Amino acid sequence: MELLKNLEWRYATKKFDPNRKVSQTNLEKIKRAIQLSVSSYGLQLYKVLIIENKNIREQLKPVSWNQNQITDASHLFVFCNYTKINDDDIDDFIRLTSQTRNIEMAKLEGYGEFIKMKLAEKSEAEQTNWLERQPYLAVSNLLIACSELEIDACPMEGFEPDKYNEILGLTEKGLNTCVIATIGYRDDSDRSQDLPKVRKSTDLLFEEIEQKVPESLVSS
Ligand SMILES: Cc1cc2nc3c(=O)[nH]c(=O)nc-3n(C[C@H](O)[C@H](O)[C@H](O)COP(=O)(O)O)c2cc1C
Repeated sequence: MELLKNLEWRYATKKFDPNRKVSQTNLEKIKRAIQLSVSSYGLQLYKVLIIENKNIREQLKPVSWNQNQITDASHLFVFCNYTKINDDDIDDFIRLTSQTRNIEMAKLEGYGEFIKMKLAEKSEAEQTNWLERQPYLAVSNLLIACSELEIDACPMEGFEPDKYNEILGLTEKGLNTCVIATIGYRDDSDRSQDLPKVRKSTDLLFEEIEQKVPESLVSS
């Protein structure tokens, strides 16, 4: 399985070669992989900023635990969740579904109302938590796509979201920085690439629950 080989190859890159850039063709492939990510109900209530600009990344580095990846990588992806669930976003999704699948709006309205009702049942804290979980699935697709393209990447939570929101002017747009990822090409001197992967054993990580056979089906 190629995917497993790719997942063995990738690692959270600590040191990028600042002189190597990801091509536009590959960027488009990574964007498509992100676009194809799963999301709850398919709503995709987030936005992804792709930052190449050196000045902006220099500003972001001190509020990213001074991690060198921010400025040395080719591009910085900033995954921003919507801060609120608005009925308009659900309506937009229903309209898009109607257009894409050529289904009358009237046939989809009930589903839209169902989504609105289920999301309204959540407390504000639960909604925020739910909104902030969605972009992680997109980050996962970015990592998988990069590994197939032999592009290095580092998912990152070591940054100050409030400062990102301020520097990038996100709060006024109803967005919040949730998680980020840097992509580019590893520097030969990055020793992390030689380290064996630290992973729990499958015994610890998985538990297989066997199906219990009902008494009536057991032959005497
Ligand atoms: C949500 C998340 C946040 C992370 N934040 C950082 C970070 O700020 N800096 C960093 O160097 N690595 C970060 N990592 C990388 C992890 O430490 C790394 O994925 C983990 O140790 C497994 O190693 P591997 O990715 O090399 O296999 C993060 C990973 C995830 C999933």
